[in-house]
Amino acid sequence: MSGNPAISRRGMDIQESPIRKLAPLAAAAKKRGIRVHHLNIGQPDIPTPIEFWDAVESNMKGVLAYGPSNGIPELREAICSYYARSGIHVASSQVMITTGGSEAVLFALMATCDPGDEVICFEPFYTNYNGFATIAGVKLIPVTSRVENGFHLPPSEEITSGISERTRAILICNPNNPTGTIFTDDELAELADIAMERNLFLLADEVYRDFAFDGREHSSILEFPAIADRAVVMDSISKRFSSCGARLGNVITRNEELMSVFMKFGQARLCPPTLSQYGATEMYKLLTDDYYNTMVAKYQRRRDILMEELHGEEGIFFLKPEGAFYATMRLPVDDSDDFAAWMLREFSVDGWTTMVAPAAGFYATPGMGMDEIRIAYVLEDEKMRQALDILKKGIRKYVSINQ
Ligand SMILES: Cc1ncc(COP(=O)(O)O)c(C=O)c1O
Repeated sequence: MSGNPAISRRGMDIQESPIRKLAPLAAAAKKRGIRVHHLNIGQPDIPTPIEFWDAVESNMKGVLAYGPSNGIPELREAICSYYARSGIHVASSQVMITTGGSEAVLFALMATCDPGDEVICFEPFYTNYNGFATIAGVKLIPVTSRVENGFHLPPSEEITSGISERTRAILICNPNNPTGTIFTDDELAELADIAMERNLFLLADEVYRDFAFDGREHSSILEFPAIADRAVVMDSISKRFSSCGARLGNVITRNEELMSVFMKFGQARLCPPTLSQYGATEMYKLLTDDYYNTMVAKYQRRRDILMEELHGEEGIFFLKPEGAFYATMRLPVDDSDDFAAWMLREFSVDGWTTMVAPAAGFYATPGMGMDEIRIAYVLEDEKMRQALDILKKGIRKYVSINQ
C-alpha cells in the first residue's frame, strides 16, 4: 500500500475559523513593521480580576489533581448565586462546569442530536457553531436574520419553514455574537412557543448575558417556566471576567435526564481545568455590582465610539448594537474577504492597519455576508478611534481602486 491513510470526512469538512484565517497575513504585516489593531477577535483587553490570580496562586501547591467531572461544588454554588442576582434560581445540581463555553455548546449539540439531526440557527451566528456541528455530525439549518432590522428574528413562518422531522433543537446566541442583538422577551416567548409546539430543545448561548447596553435587561430562557425541561443555557467566564485562557464555562438545564447525559460526557473527559476553577469561584463570590457596571459602561462607551466613527458613513450600514461587543455591518464592497486581506497586505496609515473579520464565515447559506464584516470593539477608547479611522480610510481607498 502506498500513500497515507485517508483522513475523516469530518476532518476534511470542518471549516477554518474566519476569525483566525487571516492571521498569517497579520503576521506578515507585522514582519514588515506594520502594527495591527485587532478588531477581528473578541479578546477582551480588561485585566483579569486580581481575585482570580490570588486564588490560583494560593492553590498552587501539592498535587494538581483531577476534580469532579461536573466541576467543583464551590464554583457551581457561586454560579447559582450569580444567577440568583438576576432572579434566576437554579440548583447547583443543574449546573455543570465545562472546558469553556465551547465545550458547553458541543455537549449541548451532542446531547440533543444524533448524527444527521438538524438544528435551527439564526445566521449570521457565532462561526464556531459550524465547527461544533461538524464535530457532532449535526446539520445547522440557517434562518437568515438581516441587518435592516438589527438582526432581530425574521417572521415566524421563516423560522418554522426550516423545521423538519430531523430537527431536534433551536440554537440562539443572546446577546448575539456577531451582531450585538439582544432578543426581546416577545421574541424569546415566540421561540419558546415554537419549541413546545414542535417538541424541540431551545439551546441558548448566553455568554454575553452581562453585556446589555442603554439600561436594557437581558432575559434568559431560564425565565420561561413552560420550557424548563427543554431549555439549555451555555455560559462562560471568558468574557464576563476577561479570562478567556482559564477555559471555563458551564451548561445549565433543569432537565435531569439531559443533565445525566452531560455528566457522562463530562466523565469521559474527566474534568474541567482544576486550577482555573478556584480562581473563577473567587471572582463569582467577590465581584460586586460595581465590577459589572464598570465593565458594561466601558463597552457601551466603545460601542458609542463605533457609532460616532462609522454610523452614517456613506456605504456603511448597521443599526446600533444592543449588547455583547460586536457589530456586523454592510460595506460598499463585493467581497469582504478580499477587503480584509487587502487591509493587511496593502493598507496602512502612519504604520498602522486594522484587522476585521469577513462576515461570510458567520453564515451557513453560501454567498451570504459577502459584503459584510464583523467588528469586535475590544480596544481602549483612543485605540478604537484610531482603528476605526484607519478602517474608514481603508474602505474609501479600497472602493476608489475597485470601482
Ligand atoms: C457566542 C460565543 N459562544 C461561545 C464562545 C466560546 O467561549 P469560551 O472561550 O468560553 O470557550 C464564544 C467565544 O468567543 C462566543 O463568542
